[in-house]
Amino acid sequence: MSQTIEGAKDFMPINGTDYLEFYVSNAKQAAHYYKSAFGFKSLAYKGLETGSKELESYVVVQDKIRLVLTSPLKSGTEVGKHIDTHGDGVKVTALWVDDATYAYNEAIKRGATHYMKPVTEKDEHGEVVRSGIYSYGEVVHIFVERKNYNGAFLPGFVVWETANYNPEPVGLKYVDHMVGNVALGQMNHWVKFYEEVMGFTQIMSFDDKDISTEFTALMSKVMSSGNGRIKFPINEPAPGLKKSQVDEYLEFYEGEGVQHIAVATNDIVKTVTELRDRGVEFLRVPDSYYDVLTERVGKIDEDIEALRPLGILVDRDDEGYLLQIFTKTVQARPTMFFEIIQRKGATSFGKGNFKALFEALEREQELRGTL
Ligand code: FE2
Repeated sequence: MSQTIEGAKDFMPINGTDYLEFYVSNAKQAAHYYKSAFGFKSLAYKGLETGSKELESYVVVQDKIRLVLTSPLKSGTEVGKHIDTHGDGVKVTALWVDDATYAYNEAIKRGATHYMKPVTEKDEHGEVVRSGIYSYGEVVHIFVERKNYNGAFLPGFVVWETANYNPEPVGLKYVDHMVGNVALGQMNHWVKFYEEVMGFTQIMSFDDKDISTEFTALMSKVMSSGNGRIKFPINEPAPGLKKSQVDEYLEFYEGEGVQHIAVATNDIVKTVTELRDRGVEFLRVPDSYYDVLTERVGKIDEDIEALRPLGILVDRDDEGYLLQIFTKTVQARPTMFFEIIQRKGATSFGKGNFKALFEALEREQELRGTL
């Protein structure tokens, strides 16, 4: 692992993740899933009733995390084509900025591919400026400037209230990082993109010796915005004896895309207990993982016997430790999944768990016949 601390040219300060938009085949049901299983609440809606004739979107929220679930209302739309190719998946990572026009102009000047010119949208709550550029695959970054807006979400949306069904939140706080899978040989291209176009810095790298099992391997580099609020690890497959999880993703997603979204909690035992009780499925490592845990990570605040039945993993770096767990994939295709993470000082990504995790992933692949 190498760590770079110099080099952040923060010409594009980003305040945080504004929202994540998924293109899905049934937005109404997907929104219900994120409410019932993940503890999100209804926030906003657009569709036929609001004059949106082609697309329907449901927005759900939990603390700082906003998810937009969008489906087409007719055939032949861009959204429909995206779903036909990729299945359900992340289309937009929206980044909250102070000036969406400036961010767009800087990015384009530095070589970004245009997606959406700055557009000002207004309603009775004020105005929002949005612009957008392409990232890997068909994923886009939309810059959102909302300093002159006090509505629920964005102009064009109405408040979506569901009086009778609002499950309790499970303690998810904010997006900690979002990982992309890119094709063989493309990782460094996208590292350069985030450095040159977005002013990000590479803070870590893992090679195939760090991330390999007997059968499969991958490489990863972690890009961070100057203030550290946005972190995008980028994976590419590495040659191995069998097909790696990244290869499986690329095959089933039919291209590059978002592999997992890590969301932070302040109490992972409570959060994961809630998620499990609501039907969320997690990857499991063998029980023997816990027999040697104290030896590997030293003393931690949590009772290991509380972590063991839930399958929560622990790793330590120079600055502290972290607890993490990964869901199984959450749509029809074996593509995207979530990570739940609690940081106790650690700023890394759980390198000490990679081997046990990837072996768990291989067992899932084996069941699917895709290893
Ligand atoms: Fe992660």
